[in-house]
Amino acid sequence: MRRPLVAGNWKMHGSGAEAGRLIGELIAINAGGGPAEVVVCPPFVYLAEAGQRLRGNALLLGAQDVCAEEIGAHTGEVSASMLADVGCRFVIVGHSERRALYGEDDALVARKFVAVQRQGLVPILCVGESLEERERGATHEIVSRQLTAVLGMAGVAGFGAAVVAYEPVWAIGTGRTATPAQAQEVHSLIRGRIAEKDATIAASLRVLYGGSVKASNAAELFAKPDVDGGLIGGASLKADEFGRICAAVRK
Ligand code: 13P
Repeated sequence: MRRPLVAGNWKMHGSGAEAGRLIGELIAINAGGGPAEVVVCPPFVYLAEAGQRLRGNALLLGAQDVCAEEIGAHTGEVSASMLADVGCRFVIVGHSERRALYGEDDALVARKFVAVQRQGLVPILCVGESLEERERGATHEIVSRQLTAVLGMAGVAGFGAAVVAYEPVWAIGTGRTATPAQAQEVHSLIRGRIAEKDATIAASLRVLYGGSVKASNAAELFAKPDVDGGLIGGASLKADEFGRICAAVRK
């Protein structure tokens, strides 16, 4: 059985005071206490304080990005060992905003995936097509290419300790959610690509859906057989909404 996972990607929102308040509210509603594993990913500068407050709590901490290098002269970067040091357990890699706005290519994303695992952390690998790619029927090709790059560097064994998030770019922050059927189709493709290499690893791999998930549409998405939870953007910034999404996972 795959334990469902819900992760909140706060992106570049909020202040220290707001981050502290949100963490406090999530602790108060016991967001991590249900059937789902629950992760929050605040901006880098708020991770250390969040890590201290969440010590011993069921709510887990993640980061939104990481440097592919382990140490050295990389001004402005943050290493996976630093993230582990402040209490992170998960790290998002290859988010479409990193790919589109900061020029991250498949090879760099694969290196980040490996760097995260080298520190014993769990990468949440984001894949997904743009609207133009979907409209010309290239969804499978794009998602397969993104997976292949990571398979080539980490091997299928890497997916034994990783999470994949399918985030169609056209659904992120647009209010236009993929239908449960659209999500299921691509999730099944993702699991199938991994199953070609190792059926056991594929069967235990958690594949999250991300893109305009809200409390009102989470349950129907999570009800699909290959949807193992969600990666939540805007709706993760409100504790009650996020809590209701976490409660929407299959029991
Ligand atoms: P929204 O939930 O705001 O659409 O963002 C999704 C996302 O990009 C999560 O990583």
